[in-house]
Amino acid sequence: MEIIIQPDSQQASQIAASIVARTVREKPHAVLGLATGNTPLQLYRNLVRMHRDEGLDFAGVTSFNLDEYVGIPPAHPSSYHSYMWAHLFSHINMPKERINIPDGLTTDVPAACRKYEQAIRSAGGIDVQVLGIGSNGHIGFNEPSSSLSSRTRIKTLTEESRLDVAAAFGGEEGVPTHVLTMGLGTIMDARKCLLLAFGKKKARAVARTVEGPVTAMVPGSVLQLHPRTILVLDKDAASELEMADYYAWVHEHKPDWQKY
Ligand code: PGA
Repeated sequence: MEIIIQPDSQQASQIAASIVARTVREKPHAVLGLATGNTPLQLYRNLVRMHRDEGLDFAGVTSFNLDEYVGIPPAHPSSYHSYMWAHLFSHINMPKERINIPDGLTTDVPAACRKYEQAIRSAGGIDVQVLGIGSNGHIGFNEPSSSLSSRTRIKTLTEESRLDVAAAFGGEEGVPTHVLTMGLGTIMDARKCLLLAFGKKKARAVARTVEGPVTAMVPGSVLQLHPRTILVLDKDAASELEMADYYAWVHEHKPDWQKY
């Protein structure tokens, strides 16, 4: 795992954006795996700016989002469809037909999940998968105890995850109980994983993900088995890492050809 620690989330998000942008520039038909939540907001803002000011071209890019709430229409203001259009898709030139988000309104969940997996394979697989992490260690909505080899499927949210998003649904009672989410096996198939985490609230999950044992109880820890995972953290999210000084030293002394 490569751990990049930055003074704040703004600088961390700039690095994350340059990693995504480099992939898009090198591979105009890149396939991006995208995440929602508060964490990637600044990353998306940077990508929008790079599209506007530097001509970063998304015309050939395909995207697959990690997850969507079950039973929430795409037009609902708190759906992940709405989030993605508000923060990214309305502001860049990725063609609508190349945008993929799980269908939370499907009447046949297993078939929709199989179709999603098939669509990722048909697109050639994900080049860079953007990830946030839950305070309980989830990635996507793979809650603790998720199979480390799981594929896209329905999951039941934990109380902690529901509380985390309660404000967006006018209180906990309004939060959907189920989601469709890429599995940990789906995420592990991505050629590169880019996990962002900011703030003290994420420090424990980050430490367990990087330095703890690989366990289904900390779903992010499966990334220890991924050959190309980069974590971009702010100081607070890195504050419980035992080897933080080593990671910082490694980053500072990277050979030029390895830098972003
Ligand atoms: P957040 O959510 O970015 O809103 O903190 C991350 C997650 O739960 O995966």
